[in-house]
Amino acid sequence: MSAAPGPGEALRVEAEVAANRREGGAGWRLRLRAGPDWPASRPGQFVMLSPGAVGAVARLDPLLPRPMAIYATRPGDAGAEVDVLYQVTGRGTALLAEARPGERVRVVGPLGRGFPEPGAGEDALLVGGGTGIASLYDLAARGAERGARVAVLLGARGADHLMGRDDFAALDVELRIATEDGSEGTRGLVTELLEQALAERPGAAVYACGPTPMMRRAAEIAGARGATCHVSLENRMACGFGICLGCAVPRAGEGFDLVCREGPVFEAGTLAWDGLP
Ligand SMILES: Cc1cc2nc3c(=O)[nH]c(=O)nc-3n(C[C@H](O)[C@H](O)[C@H](O)COP(=O)(O)OP(=O)(O)OC[C@H]3O[C@@H](n4cnc5c(N)ncnc54)[C@H](O)[C@@H]3O)c2cc1C
Ligand code: FES
Repeated sequence: MSAAPGPGEALRVEAEVAANRREGGAGWRLRLRAGPDWPASRPGQFVMLSPGAVGAVARLDPLLPRPMAIYATRPGDAGAEVDVLYQVTGRGTALLAEARPGERVRVVGPLGRGFPEPGAGEDALLVGGGTGIASLYDLAARGAERGARVAVLLGARGADHLMGRDDFAALDVELRIATEDGSEGTRGLVTELLEQALAERPGAAVYACGPTPMMRRAAEIAGARGATCHVSLENRMACGFGICLGCAVPRAGEGFDLVCREGPVFEAGTLAWDGLP
């Protein structure tokens, strides 16, 4: 029997779909049986998922896998079970939503570098917008377990788009919500919540994932107060491990980084924000 891969090594598996269902609103939860050899992952790492079940439909379109954050991993009866939370935004995710329990989905992961984790007693402000919320759950859960003072700020168009809200509410973290239509929490942008929270907790570290303008604003707010800020970019990806060069983003100064290999998490000041998609 081969030894299980350690953290940092990626695996390619055909994982059995344990569950794949809509969670009210726009969010879907996919639970995959990734097996006994699936490596431990860090918060913020991701997988490349085939767009739909293996063999369900003969197709080459869409051919490429889709990147998805590892929302949570837990031990199951037959090894690791990996949860992914997603929204249907196009063809790939629409096909993924058709995968039924018992079917198999190709998965490669864990990929990329994750977030640095807040330690005991440290203040951490996690800012999630839209599908970016899914990249922050594991960070919030582990931060709370380690004794960090974690506040989670979630933002979306409306209550229907707040993925994983009940999971965050069940953690030992402070939860604040902003929606653009005012259907839950305060009406407005999640970055407005960040301004308030950072005024209350000067010195907190900021961790953000969501649309680029949201992360850019979070980085500005953190920078103005001298707070560290890490962002997780959600660029389009073709391969996920440094081969196609399709996910290059410009560095502050000069040069490029690959989001899949050097990221998706970056210290905000290292990015040339004007050149980001
Ligand atoms: C590291 C990483 C982690 C991610 N984690 C999640 C997650 O946990 N849950 C989730 O729902 N989504 C996540 N995404 C975004 C997800 O990969 C895209 O939504 C998905 O690839 C869209 O595929 P599609 O075939 O359904 O859409 P397509 O048909 O390819 O595109 C449909 C629409 O979505 C836009 N789009 C496509 N890809 C992206 C993207 N990467 N970012 C923003 N807009 C895009 C297109 O421009 C188009 O308007 C993540 C992306 C990255 C890079
Ligand atoms: S997605 Fe191919 S190099 Fe990053």
